[in-house]
Amino acid sequence: MVLKIVKYPDAILRKKGQPVEKISKDVFKLVDDMIETMITEEGLALAANQVGSLYRIFVINATPREDTPKPVVFMNPEILNQEGTAVEEEGCLSFPGLYLRIKRADKIRVRAKNLYNENLIYETDGILARAIQHETDHLNGILFIDHVDKTEEEVKKYLDNLHPSKINK
Ligand code: NI
Repeated sequence: MVLKIVKYPDAILRKKGQPVEKISKDVFKLVDDMIETMITEEGLALAANQVGSLYRIFVINATPREDTPKPVVFMNPEILNQEGTAVEEEGCLSFPGLYLRIKRADKIRVRAKNLYNENLIYETDGILARAIQHETDHLNGILFIDHVDKTEEEVKKYLDNLHPSKINK
């Protein structure tokens, strides 16, 4: 099932997620729906609070440059190491039309649980390392606009200009 994506400035985007303690049927269903939603919306990744859930879960497409997506689920992720820095443009499904150049670590090591309750360690760089940092931020209520020198007022004004129909409501 494709879920509705929560858009900024919805308050849930500022909430910290709770760890997944038990991989219940509901968690399976949520992950399944998140993957379907990410693929349908052509996102690189998606965090649970972006679809209204406060679990510490995100999904990512590990093959963004290929035709067939390879979805990977990260539960209770923890970034263990960060190395180097890189500045690249980022977008977010909760901010349609907004792209910002954000400074992040270039290379990371991250530990996360998969759906089989296994703790896995991933080492990655470039676009996937960037996406994992962006999504881990989401689970802590941190948004990509927090990494740039713009106030929330400026961001809201910019988004209102992008979507003028909303102003008249
Ligand atoms: Ni995002």
